[in-house]
Formats: sequence, structure tokens, C-alpha cells
Amino acid sequence: MFHENFSDDVYRYILDSSFKVFKWSTEVTNKMSSYRGKSDLLIGSFLGFGLAGCLFYLHNRIVRQSASEDLQDSTPKPKVPYPESSSEIQVDLHLQQSQIGTPHYGLQDPQFDGCIYFDYNATTPIYREVYEAMMPFLTKCFGNPSSSHIFGKPCKTALLKARRYVAALINAQSAAENAEEIVFTSCGSESDNRAIDIALIYYYNNIKPNLNDLEKNSLPTVITSAVEHPAVLCYLRALQMQGKIKLEVIGVNEDGFVNLAELSSKLSRTTALVTIMHSNNEVGTIQPIRAVGHSIASFNQREKAGVLFHSDAAQSVGKVPIDVQGLGVDLLTIVGHKFGAPKGIAALFIKKGVKASPMLVGGGQEGGLRAGTLFLMI
Ligand SMILES: Cc1ncc(COP(=O)(O)O)c(C=O)c1O
Repeated sequence: MFHENFSDDVYRYILDSSFKVFKWSTEVTNKMSSYRGKSDLLIGSFLGFGLAGCLFYLHNRIVRQSASEDLQDSTPKPKVPYPESSSEIQVDLHLQQSQIGTPHYGLQDPQFDGCIYFDYNATTPIYREVYEAMMPFLTKCFGNPSSSHIFGKPCKTALLKARRYVAALINAQSAAENAEEIVFTSCGSESDNRAIDIALIYYYNNIKPNLNDLEKNSLPTVITSAVEHPAVLCYLRALQMQGKIKLEVIGVNEDGFVNLAELSSKLSRTTALVTIMHSNNEVGTIQPIRAVGHSIASFNQREKAGVLFHSDAAQSVGKVPIDVQGLGVDLLTIVGHKFGAPKGIAALFIKKGVKASPMLVGGGQEGGLRAGTLFLMI
């Protein structure tokens, strides 16, 4: 890898110089040995080897420097620049909304001639710009982002940029800092399941201790809608069957909208979580998330409660503008393969201040919330 990236001129120069020193030291050694005898032969050899050693050291330094510069340069430079400051983030967000969507080569494969792909809710082809941004991480930028040496550093930098990029896309408050509100996961189902777990543990640690005795005797309640993705609904039903939660499922009208009045009437101080999807994956209804968020915030303030709000935005992020601060959500699911990323890449937004428990325990990656060396295609 190094040789490929080594400038031809530097390489030729080193070979040329090595050859000259070798020739010169041989001549000096020959002359000395013929004129003065064996001790001079020894001195001549030392001189020759010493100079060759110096050259070898210099050669190594140049190679290492070149490799390091090469890795620095290999950090992907997407067409949409990564945000570096809060003002840039605004511009970047605007650029991103308008530039998403150039289909990648998959759609041009001859086996699909005459076909039109309409199933973008199931998954999308990888966008061309995503593919280009990922390439360095499939080839020369292979380091572990947790490593502090030159192979890890560019990966760590790229990871931070990716995290800030995702945070800016949903207008997370931490986008201008280290975007620690974004935790990368492997899929939408993982984000949904873990969001529910986080809310339940939060309830036991932060809400239940402040309840009265009667309230303490009830199970934590989770309120959801009848049209959620199975990653939410089936997981909640499993928790209900295990006797871990009380589940309230709100119906929808003929257009697929949840009934806000019904939802508000179900809120109580033992409600741990309300989880309502942003866009529906079957019929496309966009739920009134802002109004739900407002209703929960008013309830929390009025009742001194701590109900958390999660929204599964798998079908929305990258397609319609999402502003987590405006919507009033505490947790939000983001799924990369629904808007041009490969499968296996998703994220969970966890609002600052929501004390989350680890989803995977191990090496402390993702701010200690989800261990495991990250798939850098993120
Ligand atoms: C609304 C919604 N939530 C969650 C998911 C689950 O995402 P994944 O298949 O990446 O686990 C999907 C996938 O279709 C979805 O449409």
C-alpha cells in the first residue's frame, strides 16, 4: 500500500543514492585495503555500513511520513461538506435536503432492464455519493477508530464527522459539539427495541422513586399506536406478556392518524414512554408528532411527571425535514438503508439529559452506550 502511494521521484532518489553510497564505500574500502592492510579494510567497512544505515533510517522516515499523510488524506470528502460549526450546519442541512437521492449503479444493472424500483420504503439503493464516501473505509482507511495511532486517528475523525452530520440532519442540539446524542446501531429494529429499554430503565431509576405508594405498585405503562412497525409493537407485546409493562394501544382513524385526545387521556404519572412513529411504512401517514410532543411536555410540567417520548422516524429521516428539538422527542430512530446507506447502519437519537443505560456492554464505544468496534461505513 505504501509503495503505491510513494511518490516516484522520492523512490528513484533513494534507490539512486543507495547505489552511489554502496559504490563509493566499495571503492574506498578497496583502495584502503590495497594501500594499508587489514585494519583499514575494517575502518572502510564500518564507514560504508554506517552511511548505508543512515540512509536506511532516512528512507524509513520518509516512507512512514508518506503513509501517514496518505491516511490523513484518505478521510472521505463527500460532495456535501461535513459541518464544522453551528452556522455551517444550517447551510449543510439545507444542502443535504436538496442533494439526497442520486441512485447508485445497482439500478443500472442489466438484470433490471425494463424494471422500475418502487419499494423505497423497504430499502433504497446505495446513493452514488454515499458509495464514494465509503470507499476509503473499505480499502486503505481500515484502522480501529478507538486506536490512538496513525491508523486509528483518521477513522476517529471521520466517525466524529459522520456523527455530527447525522445530528445536523435532525437538528440535534449537540450537532455543533461532539454529537453525543447520536448512538450508531445496526438497524431500525435495534434502535426501536433499545429506545424502549432505555425508557423503562430510566423510569425505574428516575421516575418510580418519586411516586406515591399506590403508583409504585403499578407496572410502568407504555402508550403506542396500532400502526407501529413490528420492531415497536411486537417488542412491546412481548414485554407485556412477560409482565414487565402495561400496554396501551391507541387506534387510528381512516387516514391512519392517531387520536390525540385519546392519547392525552391515557397519560399518567406511571407512563414511562409514549412511542408513536413519524411516517407510516405502509400507507405513508405522517403523524402529528409535534402535537404529541407538546401534549406530553404539558402533562410532564403540570403533573411533575417524566414521561419520555420516542418516535420511529425510519421512514422520514432523509425524506422529510426532521427537527428533534421542535418535535419535542427524547428518542428518535434513524435508519440509513431507507435513504441511500447500506443495510446494517442505523442510529438512535437520545436527547441530552436522558440518562441512558448501556445497550451493549464491552469496550466503552459510543459514549459507553453501545460497545463494539463500529462498522465504519457509517
Ligand atoms: C417504520 C419502520 N421502523 C423500523 C423498521 C425496521 O428497520 P430495520 O429493518 O433496519 O431493522 C422499518 C423497516 O422497514 C420501518 O419501516
